[in-house]
Order: sequence, then structure tokens, then C-alpha cells
Amino acid sequence: MKFKKKILCIGAGYVGAPSMAMIAYKCPDYRVTVVDINHERIDAWNSSQLPVYEPGLERIVKETRGKNLFFSKDIANQIKDNDIIFVSVNTPTKTYGAGADMAADLQYWEKTARQILKYSQSSKIVIEKSTLPVKTALAMEKILSSAKGRIKFEVLSNPEFMAEGTAINDLENPDRVLIGSHETKSGLKARRELMGIYARWIPLKKIITSNLWSSELSKLVANAFLAQRVSSINSISALCEKTEADITEVARAVGMDSRIGNKFLKAGIGFGGSCFKKDILNLVYLCSYYGLKDVASYWESVVKINQYQQERFIANILNNMFGTLAGKKICVLGFAFKADTSDTRESPAIYISQQLLAEHAEIIISDPRALKNAAMELSGIEGNIKYVEDTYRAAAGCHALVILTDWDLYRRLDFRKIYRSMVKPAFLFDGRNIIDHKKCFSIGFNVYPIGKKALTHL
Ligand code: UDX
Ligand code: UDX
Repeated sequence: MKFKKKILCIGAGYVGAPSMAMIAYKCPDYRVTVVDINHERIDAWNSSQLPVYEPGLERIVKETRGKNLFFSKDIANQIKDNDIIFVSVNTPTKTYGAGADMAADLQYWEKTARQILKYSQSSKIVIEKSTLPVKTALAMEKILSSAKGRIKFEVLSNPEFMAEGTAINDLENPDRVLIGSHETKSGLKARRELMGIYARWIPLKKIITSNLWSSELSKLVANAFLAQRVSSINSISALCEKTEADITEVARAVGMDSRIGNKFLKAGIGFGGSCFKKDILNLVYLCSYYGLKDVASYWESVVKINQYQQERFIANILNNMFGTLAGKKICVLGFAFKADTSDTRESPAIYISQQLLAEHAEIIISDPRALKNAAMELSGIEGNIKYVEDTYRAAAGCHALVILTDWDLYRRLDFRKIYRSMVKPAFLFDGRNIIDHKKCFSIGFNVYPIGKKALTHL
């Protein structure tokens, strides 16, 4: 079959692969190929056990794979063979040298640019999908513009706003698609080409355009605003615990103001995930780099409150369990950074588990999807850790339950049965405020929610 467009994506991660699967699904006449330096990952995308759990993803991959969606290890030939190249390689926080622990590590990004330059034999549109510091496209362009002869590269920015767990819906019905380009003749032409792809299933009024730098910055700022809301409500949860105000009631009252809105006002143990912390630190670094110290410290406080919330949670467990956890069994319910994903990157569960172990508690970790990743996150850490998928078995014989992920499954547990199997007095720390606290209290638990009064028999 002759395909109308040939699209490549470099980077088969949480962002690259699902977004390409959606393009292939919506545009059966386009050929979409995804490559990755990690061969195991490509094998997994070609197998029945996809490397990423995301509701609805498997159906779309099964429908398109082998028809117009391909996962390949041959990066060189795929670069040669495709006209439109998305780049979705990871851009972790730098761990060394200038900007360590703040700036984005762009080494993979630059390597990819050089690979594109090396193997290209014709002009191409190169699209930044990864979240990047402002002006990264400039570096990309400088590398690519050293191409010899008539080959020309046009760099676009097209950040991805999807969230994990709802990725398929977000990709199918996004709030907006943002395309940044140079406002030159060739830049505008490339922009129209990319708009043409999204216009196959997204209304034109939702496809917005801007200059390259606004597009790059918008993605960082969108994540910073979302994270800032979480830190704002979490900071108020601490005040609620001191004043007998209830954080759920406060969030409801505040969120009903249509200027504020009710989303991202759920108090908990803090945000996790691969993006929020990394992107804010990146923003902080950019501000400092440009000498904007006050702006930098404003955004840095969002990350500080997130850490504070986790420390507060641990202190609460320790203080209420008579100041010692040594030898006690704590059942950790949920390790994923949020519900409906197997992803554990930057999950608050990592820090909280480490602290429980540091207090010499024995921890039994349960999660419906993330146990494999949990074991990887905690590998090499000393202490007594068990991984038990079944919640009831995990909780049996424990002194406390600690809810760290908002899995729906936890709302429907038979807490009477769990209570009977636990050591008394039984403690329940709900780090996500998802269960019926009054009911659990009436069963006999000592219940400690976030941002509301504890319900205890002690
Ligand atoms: C990543 C970044 O975290 C995010 O900021 C960005 O917006 C998109 O890329 P994600 O897809 O979640 O998000 O990352 P990850 O699952 O780590 O996928 C990146 C993939 O790129 C990995 O599979 C890695 O093997 C691959 N890669 C990395 C390459 O193919 N080539 C490289 O040179 C480096
Ligand atoms: C985020 C952005 O939402 C998305 O647009 C971007 O493309 C990538 O980063 P993601 O990290 O997948 O997506 O998850 P998100 O739903 O934003 O949640 C992030 C964290 O904040 C989770 O740990 C979640 O539990 C927490 N959170 C979210 C809260 O604690 N309270 C809330 O009200 C909302």
C-alpha cells in the first residue's frame, strides 16, 4: 500500500508511543513508525505485553500494529525513509555539572539531532514532542543547519499535554493542540503540514499556533500551574489539620468559583510523575539563568511544599503510632504515582516507603499494576519489604494501612474484613482522602485523613 505521509517518532516511551498510536489509528493512510535505542522496549511494543499500561491503549495498538503502525530498531534507515520526525526522547533533570538537580539534561536530545543529521538524505520536518527548556529548538536548528547541500530541516514545537491514565482520551479529545513554528515562509508551511495531521480528528479551533519559544515555554508553564494548584491546596491542608476546617469542604467552596475551577484541588501526599518536578525545576533554572531570582524562588516553593507534605505525612504516622515504627508491619496500599497507571516515577510512595524503612518498619506493598516498578524503585534499599498484589493478604497481620495511590479499588474494599485481620489498635492513614472515613472509624480503625480531623478511639 502506498501511504500518503510517512511519519517517524524517535523515543517509544509513555509519550511517544501512545501519541503515535493515536495518529496511526486516526489516519489509516499514513504510515507511522516508532524507533528507540532501547531494543527491549521495541520488542515489548511488538509483543502482547505492552511496556506501558494505559487504559484503551492496547486496543488501538492491536488495531493498527503491522498495518500502519510499526515499532522498529533500525533508527538509521527509518530516519532516511521518513519525512516527518517527532522527537520524544527523555529529558531528565541533570545530575551533574552546571545546573545539576535543576536544568534539563539535553544529551539525548542533542544525540538525536546529530543522528537525524547523519542519516538524512532529504529535507525533513523535525518536531519537538519532549518537554524542553525554552530555546532548545535553536540548538537543534544549529546542529541540523550544518547539513550539506540542499537538505533543509524545519523545526517545530508540538508539546504533548496528555496525562497518564487518561492518555487515550486526552489524545483523542485534547483541550488544545499547540504548534510552535518560525513565522517564516518555510516555518508556516511546516506548521500547516502538521496541522493537517491533527485536523484529521481534532476541530481546527482547538489547534492553536504560536512562535517556537512561546510553544516551548507554554508546556513548562502549564505543568507548573497544575503542580502549583496541588501544592496550594496541600499547604492549606496543613492549616486545616490545625484549625478543624475540612480540606474537602474548603476545596469545594473555593473550586465552585468559576474563575478558579474545581480541578487539581485534591489534597494528598503530593504530586509525583515524571513531569511536574522536573519541569518546575527546569523553569526555576531558566529563571535563575536569566537573573530572575524572585521568580525562580516563587516556583521553587511549589516543589518545597510538595516535599513538606510528604515529610508531614510520615511525621503524622510516627507521632500517632506512639513514636516508634520499629518492627511494626505497615501495609502500603498503592505505589503508582496516581491511579490507572503502572508508572512509579517520582511517586511519593518512594520517599514514604524509604522513610518507613528508615524507621525500621516492615512494609508490605500492594498495588494492582505497579509492583514490578515498585520493586525496581526500591532495589538496593535495605529493609524488610514484601510485595503482595492481593490487598487482603497484604493487610493481614499489619499494624497500619497507608493509602498512597487513589486506585478506585481501595474505595470498594471490605474494611470490616481487613480490620479483623489486623493487629489492634489498627491505624489507617488515608494519604489520598478516598475512603469513607466515618465508616472505617465505626468499624474500629483509628483514621487519619489529610487536611481534616483525625477520627480516633485512642
Ligand atoms: C519523556 C520525557 O520525560 C518528557 O519530558 C518528554 O516530554 C517526552 O519524553 P516519556 O515518554 O514519559 O517522556 O519518557 P520515557 O518513557 O523515558 O521515553 C523516552 C524514550 O526515549 C525511552 O524509551 C528511551 O529509550 C528513548 N531514547 C532515549 C531514544 O530512543 N534515544 C535516545 O537517544 C534517548
Ligand atoms: C501531567 C500533566 O497533567 C499533563 O498535562 C502533562 O502532559 C504531563 O504531566 P501526569 O503527570 O500524567 O500529567 O499526571 P497528573 O494527572 O497531572 O497528576 C500529577 C500528580 O499530581 C499525581 O501524582 C496526582 O496524584 C497529583 N494530583 C493531581 C494531586 O495530588 N491532586 C490533584 O488534584 C491532581
